[in-house]
Amino acid sequence: MKDRIDYILQEVENFVATNKEQVEEYRIRWLSKRGQITELFEEFKKVQPELKKEFGQKLNELRNKAQEKINSLKEKYESSGSNTGSAKADLSIPAETTVSIGAVHPLRKIKNEISDIFSRIGFTLSDGREIEDDWHNFTALNTPENHPARDMQDTFYVSLNPELVLRTQTSAVQVHIMENSQPPIRTISPGRVYRNEAISARAHCQFHQVEGLYIDKQVSFADLKQTLLFFSKEMFGTDTKIRLRPSYFPFTEPSAEMDISCTLCKGAGCNVCKHSGWVEILGCGMVDPKVLENCGISPQQYTGFAFGMGIERIAMLKYRVNDLRLFFENDVRFLQQFVWA
Ligand code: DAH
Repeated sequence: MKDRIDYILQEVENFVATNKEQVEEYRIRWLSKRGQITELFEEFKKVQPELKKEFGQKLNELRNKAQEKINSLKEKYESSGSNTGSAKADLSIPAETTVSIGAVHPLRKIKNEISDIFSRIGFTLSDGREIEDDWHNFTALNTPENHPARDMQDTFYVSLNPELVLRTQTSAVQVHIMENSQPPIRTISPGRVYRNEAISARAHCQFHQVEGLYIDKQVSFADLKQTLLFFSKEMFGTDTKIRLRPSYFPFTEPSAEMDISCTLCKGAGCNVCKHSGWVEILGCGMVDPKVLENCGISPQQYTGFAFGMGIERIAMLKYRVNDLRLFFENDVRFLQQFVWA
């Protein structure tokens, strides 16, 4: 019994609490009805009469010390608690200054900015799914099985029969939207996409895209160009220029890739633009009539344009980040730099 008293005494002396809950935990452990000290008092009844005096004194001492410790810690945490309404709260204590401020992730910031810009010219926001079937990710977009364009996008398969994939492009959302609504359609769809690529400073197996789709009567390539010019000036500054280069995508005809004048050197030539003065930021084109038809929209009545851009690419240009992996590592030293961005 003596050993147990000494042991608990030691524990009481060494006890430090960091909050009210811990103090209560130890009060229960030592002093409640089933507490260790209360139990010792029960055992004390069986102690031989000649030892009672010595043990009694020790036990009383232990109980008092434990009680005192609990009382003083309780008082400390109750008076510093903000919701106790305690009269002892010292309202003149300076506010805690070490609270660290979180930051919105840079990719989310860019996504929000893109959504904002397009919402100002009447685009709605729509959401898709990250697991897609073959039809929505490929076939409806004019990319049937064995089509060479499938090689452009190394695919993660979730199941082979039926073929389910982690979507490789947000263009899949276009198909759902066209299948489920009739023009006029004017929407953007941001989201995560996946490709089976080796991870490096320039490529990742997951990244983010924003898809844009505009379908109505008499939508023209000029509308596409003007929309993208508006976007580029809003996103990168009013002195930004754009240029469209002919390209190929299975779901648009004609197709183009769009460059903006280099944000760093303003066209003079630097490392970022590989001394060309231009950097590519998106793919676009007029929605192929076959795709409209696949999705239940009459190509005789309607035309439309689509575009797709990588959010990481825009973020890298805007924030001058030269390694894509940084966006996924969640290193606070990186993320903290965006608190004020
Ligand atoms: N889906 C294409 C990709 O991931 C990007 C793209 C290009 C989207 C042209 C479009 C488009 O809507 O018209 O590479």
